[in-house]
Amino acid sequence: MKHLAVIMDGNGRWAEQRGLLRSVGHEKGANAFVEAIRDFVSLPLEVMTFYAFSTENNNRNEEEVSNILNVIAYFLQSKVFDFARENNIEVVFIGDLEKLPDDLQKTIYSFPRIVNPKKTLVIAVNYGGVNEVVRAVNKLIMLNAP
Ligand code: IPE
Ligand code: MG
Repeated sequence: MKHLAVIMDGNGRWAEQRGLLRSVGHEKGANAFVEAIRDFVSLPLEVMTFYAFSTENNNRNEEEVSNILNVIAYFLQSKVFDFARENNIEVVFIGDLEKLPDDLQKTIYSFPRIVNPKKTLVIAVNYGGVNEVVRAVNKLIMLNAP
């Protein structure tokens, strides 16, 4: 197996079942993600993809959406950035990134392109099946525009 994809889910339920705030679950989920990328280094995998935040997740209340996006930005900066550089891992982001808050976009675009990476870590932020199709069709229209 070369590519393993993980859909992150159940953070909120995990917390609620323990009488904790959903935000505690999101932080716990982010810590589990950090453990998984540490394992990625030693596993015989070339690519790992993590589905972190879907377009549907935007329908949650404003406080939870901003909490999740803040957790993502914080973990990218404080855990993923140096880890990726030290382990020669290229980090690639997919999803409708332009609609994300400016500070998160800034963090995302701060990740460098790497020449000859050992492995690739793909992080999907603001991903969604319908959204992908709409954006692909719009790109095609732009390409074919006179
Ligand atoms: C997954 O956990 C992480 C994100 C969507 C950001 P959920 O937040 O979907 O947790 P549940 O599914 O409500 O338990
Ligand atoms: Mg869920």
